[in-house]
Amino acid sequence: MMLALALGMVAGCSQQESTIPAPTEESIETVEETQEIVELNYYSHPDEKGERNAIIKAFEELHPNVKVNLIELPPDTSEKLTMISKVLQAEDTAMDIFDADVIWPSIFAAAGWVEPLDNYMTEEEIDAHLPGAMYANLYQGHYYGIPYRTDTGMLYYRKDLLEKYNKSVPTTWDELVQTAEYIMSKEGGDMTGYAGSWKQFEGLTCNLMEFVWSYGGDVLDEDSKVVFDSPESVAAVTRMVDMINAENITPEGVITFSSGDARDVFFSGNMVFLRDWPSGWSKSQDPENSKIVDKVGIAALPTGGEGNESYSTLGGWQVMVSAFSEHKEEAVAFAKFRASEYSQILMSKELSHIPSLKTLYSNEEVLEAMPFLEDMYPAIIHAYPRPKSPYYAELSNILQVELQNAFKEHKTPEEAVKSASDQIKTLLGQ
Ligand code: GLC
Repeated sequence: MMLALALGMVAGCSQQESTIPAPTEESIETVEETQEIVELNYYSHPDEKGERNAIIKAFEELHPNVKVNLIELPPDTSEKLTMISKVLQAEDTAMDIFDADVIWPSIFAAAGWVEPLDNYMTEEEIDAHLPGAMYANLYQGHYYGIPYRTDTGMLYYRKDLLEKYNKSVPTTWDELVQTAEYIMSKEGGDMTGYAGSWKQFEGLTCNLMEFVWSYGGDVLDEDSKVVFDSPESVAAVTRMVDMINAENITPEGVITFSSGDARDVFFSGNMVFLRDWPSGWSKSQDPENSKIVDKVGIAALPTGGEGNESYSTLGGWQVMVSAFSEHKEEAVAFAKFRASEYSQILMSKELSHIPSLKTLYSNEEVLEAMPFLEDMYPAIIHAYPRPKSPYYAELSNILQVELQNAFKEHKTPEEAVKSASDQIKTLLGQ
């Protein structure tokens, strides 16, 4: 009872509470000597600069009766999914809370592996987040996660090189290719033009969808009917394949690049354009990592051409509570703290993670950490979701495999698109 009251008061478990304060001397509870310590295991992204442990420490100061163990997951999103799925499938009580990608709530909710969080959240708490970030957590009328970070694909460009050659930021993919070719021909050496995360993993699906949408195509329509096999999708895949095999503007090995690899080439000064998430920003401005500090600009991704629009894939991360946790109340309290203003500001400053909380888009500390945030707000708010489906992981894998077949010229773009479309139809029983 004492425990429930403490959590309710401090972490906002009661229906009246909305935001969570940063820990203060006064707010720190004292543990009764007889009180049992509850241990929570939090399966998380790896701790990069000690920031995740700092959040845990702040939470533990507020809740001296709770100890949170950080269990680090692999950096690759697809590997994270495999690991979390195994633990959940085994109904293992060892995992209480975990970081979840924006496309996982439907997968885990449909399997009954995660705790619905509606009863723990007020309307006000739900409304505090950007609508896209919160909607991703909704499955059949219930919320299953609390977003702590949203994400949006963006175009990074070399400000200095565009200025030097009097070129503007490209607004179409064709223009991007022409500008890259021009600058590569002038700069010579190891200069390359463009890369994203094109290895076979979830990042590739994010990159592909931006091309497909920007040419006017899609994978599923509003009624979840498969519509992938279209001239628009073929144009998008052709554009990507040609960058590698016709125009040669991508660095060697691009089809094995995760986000870190594409960043490395860009940060070394040998690439004109990069597709990345905002988390690349703080790294690009760190002289330990980057030779191009102060030479980087950020803009919306290009469109497929006239009449088309720019699209960014909605990414982002939430905290979910395992249905098999034996400490759900404490787990929810931690999840709320992980998604609180305090934690989101800290992550914005340390790792340029863009917040899911609306109020933070006018927060001075956050804006100072990410000067591009104001200009990119339209792209952030309109970031477009990947298909929402309990079969998402399989669907995404089909797209990745077939796109790689086109990259390697085992199939033409037409064949790869048709094959992916047929397999997705079978997967979804259409
Ligand atoms: C980022 C995004 C996530 C996406 C992943 C792909 O972490 O936030 O949504 O699935 O990249 O690698």
